[in-house]
Amino acid sequence: MKIKILTLFPDMFNGFVGESIIKRAIDNNVVEIEIIDYRTYSNDKHNHVDDTPCGGGAGMVIRCDVIDRAIKANSGDNTYICLMTPQGERYSEAITKELALKDEIMLICGHYEGFDERVRGYVDRELSIGDYVLTGGEIPAMAIADSVIRLLDNAINSESYKDDSYYNGLLEYPQYTRPVEYNGDSVPEVLLSGNHKKINEYRLKESLRKTYLRRPDLLEGRLLSKEEEKFLKEVKDEEDNK
Ligand code: ADE
Repeated sequence: MKIKILTLFPDMFNGFVGESIIKRAIDNNVVEIEIIDYRTYSNDKHNHVDDTPCGGGAGMVIRCDVIDRAIKANSGDNTYICLMTPQGERYSEAITKELALKDEIMLICGHYEGFDERVRGYVDRELSIGDYVLTGGEIPAMAIADSVIRLLDNAINSESYKDDSYYNGLLEYPQYTRPVEYNGDSVPEVLLSGNHKKINEYRLKESLRKTYLRRPDLLEGRLLSKEEEKFLKEVKDEEDNK
């Protein structure tokens, strides 16, 4: 997969592409990441990419002609173009899975007061990573690229993400490691039993418990298997009688 990121601040991505799992995915040709500077597509000698808002007001607005030239010079028929904006559709693991199937995605970062409204007409989708406003789209673009890359084949072991929170629509079960006992707080015995059937049952039940207690909305409308139904009933009885 190829990920292209359009930004006014290319250096913000140095750490992102240069460390840990993302670096390894790039080195192993799982993903190619290209960081594109808007200033390359400015057509004035001072490399301006923004201007004051029409009608007045604070801050600067990124020009639509600059973004249009940057998109046209860097996209093809297969490029899925996403605009980073707090006004966009709320990003979720379901969208991550969709994006992970694309050949090429382009993430467009705003900065300052945002971009000229006409830019919305140049993109396939507008995405927000949450109901808060950041100083620019760079951190959202990193969040989205990171969440997509970890789902690509050979980026991480698929066993590691199948049980993750949200991947299967539930929050992840609790994890423990050594020491087995610390400050009087012990690892649940079943996890030390070596009985994989029991361990899997424990994990499913605790995953349902976390979801029931913290994100009951995720259970609404979910089609439960017989086993999930049984464990969820047990969880509800236990929690409601506490
Ligand atoms: N740009 C600024 N805030 C944002 C957000 N919450 N999501 C996506 N892009 C943004």
